[in-house]
Amino acid sequence: MHDTKPEITISFGPCLPIAAMGLLLSGCVGRQSALAPAGHDAEQISNLFWVMTAGASIIWALVLGTALAATLGLFKNPTRLTPNILIVGGGVVFPTVILGILLIFGLRLLPNWQSEPDRLQIHVHGEQWWWRVVYRAPDQIEPVISANEIHLPAGQAVEFVLTSADVIHSFWIPSIGGKLDMIPGRTTRLLLEATRPGVYRGVCAEYCGTSHAKMAFAVVVHEPKDFNAWLEDRTSDPNIGTDDPGRKIFLSSGCAACHRIRGLTEIGSVGPDLSHIGSRRTIGAGIAENTPKNLARWITDPAHMKPAVQMPAYRALPPEDIAAIARFLSNLN
Ligand code: CUA
Repeated sequence: MHDTKPEITISFGPCLPIAAMGLLLSGCVGRQSALAPAGHDAEQISNLFWVMTAGASIIWALVLGTALAATLGLFKNPTRLTPNILIVGGGVVFPTVILGILLIFGLRLLPNWQSEPDRLQIHVHGEQWWWRVVYRAPDQIEPVISANEIHLPAGQAVEFVLTSADVIHSFWIPSIGGKLDMIPGRTTRLLLEATRPGVYRGVCAEYCGTSHAKMAFAVVVHEPKDFNAWLEDRTSDPNIGTDDPGRKIFLSSGCAACHRIRGLTEIGSVGPDLSHIGSRRTIGAGIAENTPKNLARWITDPAHMKPAVQMPAYRALPPEDIAAIARFLSNLN
């Protein structure tokens, strides 16, 4: 019996380098790129990257050029001193000077700030595998509780207060700034200033278990006045349809034991807050578009979308009940 597998020959020809270059460049734009900065820190990181890339390229060319010149015998009349000059100059003096300059350049980028009482604070608590988000504005009476989506004002420094519930996570919005670990039992702080309104993507940058790669969040940067209006809106209850059939099923199925909905049920704190969930861009911490259909899929079997998630499956509920809950949640704005 011979192998009947069809033989496939693919010829990439000149397309391959062009495609590779396209892929490389496409990684540098978009809503999750440290090289398309939309924040003060991201700009500095991006500058550091380009300075180092340019420097490394020049040094690479110098080393290769010297090696090539030596191979081709282009050094005219070498004396016994020539190797020593090359070794001391190129191997000791040159790297010391270059690394010294880079050290000074890098040290200047180290954060230097202190907590200020009149600054907006956003507490982000990492959990396997989602983000608890609490906004504390200076003149705000009651904190605004949310999850898996972060809203920011442009041109205003925001203090992130980072903690973890279980293991080490790392909070990172590549377009806006550097990353910082969230360590159980400790509080770490990060000052970020977004510069350009838009929608970006944040991620967990430290392996934290099975669904680490599915622990993301949307970041929405507003003009300051729009941000204030947004935050103000979040201090009031969402529109909850009183005769919505999904609301009854949500309450009778025990969803409220884990999830809070402002103005409806305040007890649940195990899972993400669902007040205003209808206005969020994604569900499951950045893993799927927020649509009634995806919400229904999630409620039916969350582990299918996010392996090892702690929320149980609700396969036992009739599909029409799940669809009703999904519709009810989608309308919470
Ligand atoms: Cu949380 Cu990785």
